[in-house]
Amino acid sequence: MDRRSFFTSAAGIAAAAFRPDAVALAQSAGLGSFGRPADAVARDEDYWMNVRHAFTVDRNLINLNNGGVAPSPKIVSDTEKRYLDMENMTPTYYMWRILDPGLETVRRRLAKMFGCDPEEIAITRNASESLEIIQLGMDLKAGDEILTTNQDYPRMLTTWRQRERRDGLKLRELKFPVPPPSMDYLVKMFEDNITPKTRVIHICHITNRTGQIFPVKKICQMARARNIEVIVDGAHAFAQFPFTHADLDCDYYGTSLHKWVLAPIGTGMLYVRKSKIAKIWPMMPAPPSMDENIRKFEEIGTHPASQRNAITEALTFHDSIGAERKAERFRYLRKRWSSKLRQYPNVKILNSEDPEQSCAIGAVAIDGIESNALITYLMDKYRIWTTSIDMPGEYKALRITPNVYTTIEEIDTFTEAMEKVAKAGKIPA
Ligand SMILES: Cc1ncc(COP(=O)(O)O)c(C=O)c1O
Repeated sequence: MDRRSFFTSAAGIAAAAFRPDAVALAQSAGLGSFGRPADAVARDEDYWMNVRHAFTVDRNLINLNNGGVAPSPKIVSDTEKRYLDMENMTPTYYMWRILDPGLETVRRRLAKMFGCDPEEIAITRNASESLEIIQLGMDLKAGDEILTTNQDYPRMLTTWRQRERRDGLKLRELKFPVPPPSMDYLVKMFEDNITPKTRVIHICHITNRTGQIFPVKKICQMARARNIEVIVDGAHAFAQFPFTHADLDCDYYGTSLHKWVLAPIGTGMLYVRKSKIAKIWPMMPAPPSMDENIRKFEEIGTHPASQRNAITEALTFHDSIGAERKAERFRYLRKRWSSKLRQYPNVKILNSEDPEQSCAIGAVAIDGIESNALITYLMDKYRIWTTSIDMPGEYKALRITPNVYTTIEEIDTFTEAMEKVAKAGKIPA
């Protein structure tokens, strides 16, 4: 048996998982999946078992809250620790001279994945920083109107509200049903609410609540035709499902890398279209010579290189699975629990089932059951870790976010626990 066929056989894959170099072997095992349709690989538990072995998560806790922030594969956290030890030897030399130049590789790799010029990518600490750079850095004047939704991320809404208080801007938060009737409904919702004062539309690529995917390209093009800027919050989208800048045609895009990219905690990315860089003020000032340089957004004073430099390892890990396969696996896992629970008349699934409008993130509620009580029950009885999403006056639900290391057994345990509650119509004693 040659090397390639060994790793593509079930025995080879299983053996690989228990070798000390399991991560490298697991990635080799992926070779056997190339050429196979992503939806077939999504169901191949041998393949996902190898992916699972790349993580050091606590298997006595079923983590269905990967949306907040996700664990890195061991290869990524080992790299981060190695860089940390290195920079700590003589930070002024090892961090500034040896590690910091590596940031240009990170920039190039991020640009390759996003499908843009590296000179349009800034590396930040998180999506909040990326988005706030744009929100606070845009020249706007009293009376200018910002259109967004009430399901956008609270910190980003808080940022606009501060600008309302400080600069006299006006924030308008639109409401939409979950799931919405269609993606075109979302475009029309924004279009219908534009006034002569609208200067900015702020949208999520995918919401952190019910996982609704927005028609970003249509909204950007509709807004551009009216001279309106669009800021896209991609905190949850990047590396959850495949797309490139060409699919969005946006001018500003901010994302976390510690969510679906599985990069070290405290990493984010900002994309700014080249022609727009000069007009955005950085949050921390930079000299005029940097006006057109994307690196002006990275002028934040002394900060560790260890987290940022390990992003490349996370991107390589992501590539070794492949964006399509990841997305198909996520949809498969979501459908596995949601199609069973949907059969109960007292269960409400709030995410769309349309693959264009949904991926890993699901949201579920059971009539008459308080979601915090349900969260406590799942944790106390099954050690299933979830979170609640609360839109006062609209809905309250559990948000379910698995990851590439989530097993079928874990999804089925969650499903069975929820079925018990749905059947009983109350939290079992
Ligand atoms: C939609 C959305 N935007 C922005 C953020 C902020 O991300 P971070 O905490 O990485 O800054 C989050 C975090 O969960 C989010 O879900």
